[in-house]
Amino acid sequence: MAQILLSRKAACNTHGQDSSYFLGLQEYENDPYDPKTNPTGIIQMGLAENQLSFDLLESWLQRHPDAAGLRRFGRVVFRELALFQDYHGLPEFKRVSAGFQQHNVRLQALADLMGDLRDNKIEIDPRKLVLTAGATSANEILMFCLAEPGEAFLIPTPYYPGFDRDLKWRTGAEIVPVHCSSSNGFRITRAALEKAYQGARKRNLSVKGVLVTNPSNPLGTTMSRNELGALVDFVVAKDVHLISDEIYSGTTFDSPRFVSVTEAIEGRAHVSDRVHVVYSLSKDLGLPGFRVGAIYSNNEAVVAAATKMSSFGLVSSQTQYLLSALLSDEEFKGNYTGENQKRIKQRHDRLVQGLGRSGISCLKSNAGLFCWVDMRHLLRSNTLEGEMELWREIVYEVGLNISPGSSCHCDEPGWFRVCFANMSAETLDVAMRRLQDFVASGRARDGDSRQRKKPILGKWMLTLSSSDRRSERGC
Ligand SMILES: Cc1ncc(COP(=O)(O)O)c(C=O)c1O
Repeated sequence: MAQILLSRKAACNTHGQDSSYFLGLQEYENDPYDPKTNPTGIIQMGLAENQLSFDLLESWLQRHPDAAGLRRFGRVVFRELALFQDYHGLPEFKRVSAGFQQHNVRLQALADLMGDLRDNKIEIDPRKLVLTAGATSANEILMFCLAEPGEAFLIPTPYYPGFDRDLKWRTGAEIVPVHCSSSNGFRITRAALEKAYQGARKRNLSVKGVLVTNPSNPLGTTMSRNELGALVDFVVAKDVHLISDEIYSGTTFDSPRFVSVTEAIEGRAHVSDRVHVVYSLSKDLGLPGFRVGAIYSNNEAVVAAATKMSSFGLVSSQTQYLLSALLSDEEFKGNYTGENQKRIKQRHDRLVQGLGRSGISCLKSNAGLFCWVDMRHLLRSNTLEGEMELWREIVYEVGLNISPGSSCHCDEPGWFRVCFANMSAETLDVAMRRLQDFVASGRARDGDSRQRKKPILGKWMLTLSSSDRRSERGC
């Protein structure tokens, strides 16, 4: 009844939020683990948050009270910030010369950080940057700029489950999965891209581009320069766009080093108009709540349109103010990046060793805030239903919220994304002990469902959600 009053867009299910990824996050909210108040609760391992370096940010804030207190050289700048309207590109904005300078300083600070994370192999030009409310908004804006409703982007699997909502829901664009396989470590091949492209053509879908996440979420791997070169060759051959979501670029903790697509296309001026980078401070600085993201593109028309569209999701002026001070502090930036990567590596290794004690292995990775974990040997049946069954047991019996591969559109059952940077080391150890007990008890395989506690399975838990089934129906 209530739905009758809604638009088709609001009522339809292409938001993708009924996938087990989002539902697992909800389950955690109902019974969150706390070592003192709820020691049998669910441990959140489904959230790619970086909480490992908060102390570094907090100590910087303490040492720089002006930045957090909205002051410049001791003078309160509240009114200036309260009135500042960052409508990039509008004539009113350009006339406010003082404001314009500030705006450039902010973009310069972000551009410098992006350059640093790319080992300054390329120069990031702040005029080609568009600020957005996180990578979520950046990705959606690029879809609005590059695709008509019904047109498609190819995305290698497994991919970040949020893309189903971010890229498709409001824009009406389609995602065509490029199925990658464990046989080559889920690397993207020309054959897989070609197959997805031809499959889209058979469905009468016009392909507008390819979107990759580099470093990959959920694999935690980086693409090599050769792989990036081959990808660029593919988009040139098909005359389509390439979006590279590089939100995890600063999390690369091991060799090979991260290579940005901007570096891979250097010297190929004729392709740069079709290549667009997405970035955000949500992972590298651990600030998803600040909502700071960016589009970086050589394509002037895209930058102009995206800048106007960014009006729907601007970054607040006080956030920009604080971050421009933080990111202009060269000493802080240098220390933070190195220390943060060191901590991510330590935590990654702790997870890998913990899983190893249960006889569980992971795809070898060198970036990200998660591991791509192989639990195929724990499945009762080698099917997506078998994967969901194991997932329910791990959520309800073991008390760990991890993300099943099917929520990332992986078509090989038994892979799971397990996050490690959103909790303390002690909590991670508790999680690993629980998993070890579970595997040692043989419950996974023999089906003895002695439950940890009274789970009342919601209707959604009993079936694969429509997103997990990869429904291709729109609204
Ligand atoms: C690959 C990828 N892109 C985009 C996002 C969204 O990031 P933001 O918080 O900056 O909107 C995420 C968040 O997990 C992500 O993993």
